[in-house]
Amino acid sequence: MSVTTLPPLRLGVNIDHVATVRNARGGSAPDLIRAAELAIAAGADGITAHLREDRRHIRDADLDRLVALTRTVERPLNLEMAVTDEMVAIALAHRPHAVCLVPERREERTTEGGLDVAGQHNWITPAIRRLHEEGGARVSVFIAADPDQVSASADAGAQVVELHTGAYCDALREGSSDAGRLLEGLHAAAVQAAALGLEVHAGHGIDYDSVTPVALIPEVVELNIGHFLIGEAIFVGLEAAIGRMRRLMDTARAAPAGEPVGGIG
Ligand code: PXP
Repeated sequence: MSVTTLPPLRLGVNIDHVATVRNARGGSAPDLIRAAELAIAAGADGITAHLREDRRHIRDADLDRLVALTRTVERPLNLEMAVTDEMVAIALAHRPHAVCLVPERREERTTEGGLDVAGQHNWITPAIRRLHEEGGARVSVFIAADPDQVSASADAGAQVVELHTGAYCDALREGSSDAGRLLEGLHAAAVQAAALGLEVHAGHGIDYDSVTPVALIPEVVELNIGHFLIGEAIFVGLEAAIGRMRRLMDTARAAPAGEPVGGIG
């Protein structure tokens, strides 16, 4: 009897918070490129970094070096950025493999919500077109698991949606009864997006507990994970932290399709 397994799941490691630690002292250590090289050696399929308008973690010179490294080792660089003229110009100049458009507010600690593609398509749609057609990038939009945002993302011409997993991961960590409903919402959004021809990614707040339920959503083909891995690396090292995450993802995807793997609600 043949067993159907899920399609492979890529891991993008977000190294922003290596830069956060570096910036705390203003020097060059810990080195971002060394972290990216280690991440790839440990099983990352690609490197993700967010050039924020306030440059609170990676900076323009880091982007130059990340572009050079990822080209040399032939791994994709996924540049997260706000939809501004400045950021679009930077992306067009650097031509990363992928761009993920995110909402950005200066006062927030992290990317708190999804991009309002449905409400702001007038300026998001032309940015997506330029980044894809002129910049050659695969463009994703970081959205909440909301049916209107999913359909607006397809209408806006995005190739990918990245579903914001933050609310689900928080609920799971806190033992909230909302976790099951939020996971169902992510699954429904993934099914809807895939049916519209969009590639589906997921990210934000993922840790060793939340990765398996998200990895079991068959339509999701890439996870972008940062803060937890960099924090865990303090205790076990970057390679061990990423290696464990990679194994959890691979174990989930190796399970026969439709069968839950340990602890899935
Ligand atoms: N995906 C996107 C679009 C993000 O903005 C972030 C945070 O920069 C992540 C994934 C990674 O989130 P975390 O650092 O919580 O793993």
